[in-house]
Amino acid sequence: MEHLDTRGREVGPDVEGLDIDGLAAEAEQAVAHASSTAALAQLETEYLGKRSALTRAHRTLGGLDPEARKEAGRRLHEVRAHLVAGLGTRRAELAAAERAASLRADRLDLTEVVPEDVRSAAARGHLHLVTQARAELEDVFVGMGFTVAEGPEAETDWYNFEALNIPPAHPARGMWDTMYLDLGEPETVLLRTHTSPVQIHLMEEAVRAGTLPIHAVMPGKCFRLDTPDARHLPVFNQIEGLVVDRGITFGDLAGTIQVFTEAYFGPGMESRLRPGYFPFTEPSAEFEITCTLCLGEGCRTCSHSGWIELGGCGMVDPAVFDAVGVDATEWSGFAFGFGIDRLAQMRHAVPDMRSFLENDIRFLTQF
Ligand code: PHE
Repeated sequence: MEHLDTRGREVGPDVEGLDIDGLAAEAEQAVAHASSTAALAQLETEYLGKRSALTRAHRTLGGLDPEARKEAGRRLHEVRAHLVAGLGTRRAELAAAERAASLRADRLDLTEVVPEDVRSAAARGHLHLVTQARAELEDVFVGMGFTVAEGPEAETDWYNFEALNIPPAHPARGMWDTMYLDLGEPETVLLRTHTSPVQIHLMEEAVRAGTLPIHAVMPGKCFRLDTPDARHLPVFNQIEGLVVDRGITFGDLAGTIQVFTEAYFGPGMESRLRPGYFPFTEPSAEFEITCTLCLGEGCRTCSHSGWIELGGCGMVDPAVFDAVGVDATEWSGFAFGFGIDRLAQMRHAVPDMRSFLENDIRFLTQF
């Protein structure tokens, strides 16, 4: 039979050779001074494990007489229970401290104040207001079931004018003067004055591929010999719309514009369709909203009319269907062309459109 001291070394003839009180005091001290949960785990093995003095002493109980066995057993059990409780308490303390320390070390302070110069737009850019507007408009129309298409910025006379029912020398060309490019081509090439030529590309393609109907919007840059003012830029952006389907009416056009206006400006925006003229639509209308700067009172931006024209629209003229080979007895459609810059200007009540191109950081960082 083994007789052990606190470290499990053999000391004496029976369990009474084990200094139980000394062992309990020593263990309590060690536990109190343990500096980590890992150290505590070691102490646990050392004092309570299979080869610990306590466990081994327990195994020697059988060699004692019944009275002594009972007494020694009770005492061993008491010490073990006390030690288990002490270890538990200390483990909870140490675990909490370790967790707090690790949180401190891994701390990511999301409330940290970033200095103004780091935060400024000079350090971190963002999309230009007009680019944001274009993306938002595409979203609105995609949400309404339109697809998005694009066309070239340099066009031939056919796409920009003739196919749109504007023959050479037609007076309507006066509204759309632009830069002509001398590329040594037999055809006249120019910077497109509107996105309407993309209508022609789409219809030609659909006829060729037999994929009518069309429900598409076409955003892009346009160029005109316009003098810059509060509402005009010589380089600007439009978003064209084209629907070609069976049984399309002016009611579909008006309803589409109504839904679009509420989606882009929010409910309550006052808009109107005013009879207008475009060679490629019949009937035609101009789409206007209440000027958001003066709310209809009249100001410099709206030339004191209280209204701002956002674009043109109408039913696709049969002459256009003829030019691209769409059967006008089977198909009908509507088209519109809105100024993206103008839409952004009205949405944000920007008094002068020229601000968009001045690159003044105080203006640009507001959006
Ligand atoms: N293209 C015309 C413009 O730029 C707008 C428009 C588009 C009108 C489609 C009718 C239909 O002024």
